[in-house]
Amino acid sequence: MLRTHTCGELRIQHVQQQVTLTGWVQRLRDKGSLLWIDLRDRYGITQLFLEEGKTRPELLQAARGLGREYVVRATGTVVERLSKNDKMPTGDIEIRVDSLEVLNPSKLPPFTIEDETDGGDDLRMKYRYLDLRRTPVRESLLLRHKMAQQTRAYLDSLQFIEVETPVLIKSTPEGARDFVVPSRIHHGEFYALPQSPQTFKQLLMVSGFDRYYQIVKCFRDEDLRADRQPEFTQIDCEMAFITREDILNTFEGLIRHLFKTVKGIDLPALPHMTYAEAMSRYGSDKPDTRFGMTFTEITDLVKGKGFQVFDGAELVVGICAPGAASYTRKQLDELTEFVKRPQIGAKGLVYARYEAGGNLKSSVDKFYTEDELKKWAAAFGAKPGDLMLVLAGPADATRKALNELRLLMGSQLGLRDKNTFSALWVIDFPLLEWDPEGSRYNAMHHPFTSPKREDLHLLDSEPGKVRANAYDMVINGTEVGGGSIRIHDRPTQQLMFKKLGFSEEEAKKQFGFLMDAFEYGAPPHGGIAFGFDRLCSLFGGADSIRDFIAFPKNNAGRDTMIDTPSTISAEQLKELGISVAG
Ligand code: AMO
Repeated sequence: MLRTHTCGELRIQHVQQQVTLTGWVQRLRDKGSLLWIDLRDRYGITQLFLEEGKTRPELLQAARGLGREYVVRATGTVVERLSKNDKMPTGDIEIRVDSLEVLNPSKLPPFTIEDETDGGDDLRMKYRYLDLRRTPVRESLLLRHKMAQQTRAYLDSLQFIEVETPVLIKSTPEGARDFVVPSRIHHGEFYALPQSPQTFKQLLMVSGFDRYYQIVKCFRDEDLRADRQPEFTQIDCEMAFITREDILNTFEGLIRHLFKTVKGIDLPALPHMTYAEAMSRYGSDKPDTRFGMTFTEITDLVKGKGFQVFDGAELVVGICAPGAASYTRKQLDELTEFVKRPQIGAKGLVYARYEAGGNLKSSVDKFYTEDELKKWAAAFGAKPGDLMLVLAGPADATRKALNELRLLMGSQLGLRDKNTFSALWVIDFPLLEWDPEGSRYNAMHHPFTSPKREDLHLLDSEPGKVRANAYDMVINGTEVGGGSIRIHDRPTQQLMFKKLGFSEEEAKKQFGFLMDAFEYGAPPHGGIAFGFDRLCSLFGGADSIRDFIAFPKNNAGRDTMIDTPSTISAEQLKELGISVAG
């Protein structure tokens, strides 16, 4: 190595040792007679110093010529610092430099490479390799590394086998659009990049692998959000000869192992909540259970008092925000504006304050007496000082809107601490989901999910009511993983495709290989996939998954550093047999 030590490891016990360090110049401080250099590498920062009178003049001059991000190699003696810095692990010592070599100069970086940077998102993405030198970003990737290692350790200890599945495949239906790759040899034909290894992991169960996992890239051409990337990583798993409980226990074990080993947290056992309960109590299939404020339905209580909005509503439902009776008129107006946004879609917001003194005042006093409001308060379990917020309208849309309001109130009241973790399983999802645009049912999870046996009889008469053997793991309101017990026989799989509107021919063309495999001794099986990037960002306390991916795409799906997507040459297009209009 060109160095004897890293920039993160020297301590007081190294004093008087002769050392050689390599790294990047983070900062230079020239006080005239004294010159300090902060030298950084992946392991930390060590302070170097040179002193007029004691350091050779040509060395001092060379040091003064250094710029930010120069790559240097410095040799010197470790000495105890006069003024120590207890914020740095190396803060007790510094290096009295006696030789310095510039291994490579650097242009002035376009933004400062420190914990807090002046670089905006665009600049940071364009020069991602510089952004990755910053400690917070590096630590995010380090966390990801630890999570991957611990995932492997846990699954390996349970005899899971890591198997790689192909990337050039045929469409897998996970509900997004496919990225496709044209074939040069077979003009007019395309590979699709996997949205997940779903069908392959099921085939591995048919092959008898019994316990499979893979930390694997998946590709989905869908609209991007803070927690979505076009290429992302899953911890993808499948098991044979299991019940749903086996899967839930095994993967609850994985998550608890990760919390314990990576964060030192003992995560309590995960409660199970049915989809129906999640929707009625939280208006969401991924409830943030770090805080209460669950929904209270007061439809029957409020009808018939002359208030048209409630009288005509399918559902009147609200939340009780603890201690928020002191919200000002302005704050309440802001909440009303919030729920009326087109994305939220409520028509308006009704509120009732349970004042600290015990009086009840509402925005609908004209229609509801204080005695009636007392009944509301009883239904909500409201106490003096609380604020009741009520929405009314069509049931599903109103619950959805109230979910958004609940999350906003949770944030405003400081109930969504990033260092508190609340995990649960949401189970018994509906099998099918009505698609009004296509006027047909889609699989809510994917077409390989098995219906609950006790609901099978509803498949013809009320398909929307059939529940699936499907489950999601939700942590702090984020869906971190999802899976199901699969169909493992041809007739049921065929029936499922039929229900989803596939003709027999289409189903055979797309998934004949899987249904064929089911006829050669397919064991009962099931599995799950975790969104690895999401899990990492959750562990790291971040909102966006981007900083947990070394080279992510921006919000427009672009990598501005390598400038992609980009056009390809006419020759390449010709070779691929593709003609581009215009
Ligand atoms: P699903 O589609 O629910 O299931 O995906 C599993 C998990 O992957 C994460 N995820 C994403 N993360 C980042 N960016 C995206 N675009 C993105 N899309 C999904 C989520 C999600 O919970 N084959 C099934 C799993 C199975 O049935 O075993 C599947 O892929 O955290």
